[in-house]
Amino acid sequence: MQQALSHLMLIEPLAFEPSLERAIEATRETAWDRFRAPESRAEAALVFAMFYALEGGKALRAFLVIESARLHGQTMTAAAQAALAVECIHAYSLIHDDLPCMDDDDLRRGKPTVHRKWNEHTAVLAGDALQAKAFELLATPELGGNALELVRGLAVASGHEGMVGGQMMDIAAETAEAPLTLEQIKAVQHGKTGALIRWSASAGAVMAGASSAELETYGEALGLAFQIADDILDVEGSAAETGKAVGKDADAGKATFVSLLGLDAAKRQASDLVEQACEALSSYGADAECLREAARFVIARRK
Ligand code: IPE
Ligand code: IPE
Ligand code: MG
Ligand code: MG
Ligand code: MG
Repeated sequence: MQQALSHLMLIEPLAFEPSLERAIEATRETAWDRFRAPESRAEAALVFAMFYALEGGKALRAFLVIESARLHGQTMTAAAQAALAVECIHAYSLIHDDLPCMDDDDLRRGKPTVHRKWNEHTAVLAGDALQAKAFELLATPELGGNALELVRGLAVASGHEGMVGGQMMDIAAETAEAPLTLEQIKAVQHGKTGALIRWSASAGAVMAGASSAELETYGEALGLAFQIADDILDVEGSAAETGKAVGKDADAGKATFVSLLGLDAAKRQASDLVEQACEALSSYGADAECLREAARFVIARRK
């Protein structure tokens, strides 16, 4: 009975940091709930790698889903399914991003990358299975009549028009004859990082069948600021803080705001974008303060 009632509970407003903690907890609990017990040794190894890859991140995308769901009067149970779904796609994208054929990284979230801890086939398959899991999670009655739109949106955000397309451009730029222009770099980031962040920020409005235009504008600016901050951390951060190797973008010839504009101009761009993100939320008034705090966090963070 208590559990039945908690399904109907709206999401409590919290300050930013506890809200990020709540996103981590909700993602973890939902994962325990929605992954069946493995039936073979091979399945157990795969599920272990999937859980390993899901753990230890900031859960920013899950936070955005939950917070936008709160602004649109959704329940925690529904929001948690969508929050875990996008964290599954994100975790899969990181596992594959770290593979030797991509960025070739040994450290992620302060732990060995999946292909280093196990092997490449486990990393490829855990990524594949996390991607499938995301869509299974969205195809749930708890998400009601708007689940189809969430599924469609996440598929577009993940695929060739979104994250995967951006990753392809990111890698192609390493060997491009001329450095990318600012517009081209924005197009890379719009896909590789922006698409999942936009989907997350607008998910609550989509769940409610409401207009997601403002949250999408917020997500667009936030996503770009987020990737600029990631590129700045690659130059100014340390592996101890970020939990991943730093100084690799320049070595690999990556096209980033920092490589094109330099650190100072990249930082100014990022703070302009944070202002734009905050302004996009004006119709939500003070209720969106937590999302504004998230935007400020995105460029102030050290990990
Ligand atoms: C890292 O994302 C990869 C990028 C898209 C830049 P996050 O910085 O959100 O990684 P975690 O989830 O906190 O580890
Ligand atoms: C990766 O971008 C974005 C993804 C789609 C996974 P990066 O390659 O810059 O991410 P990090 O720096 O390895 O986390
Ligand atoms: Mg990469
Ligand atoms: Mg990388
Ligand atoms: Mg990076």
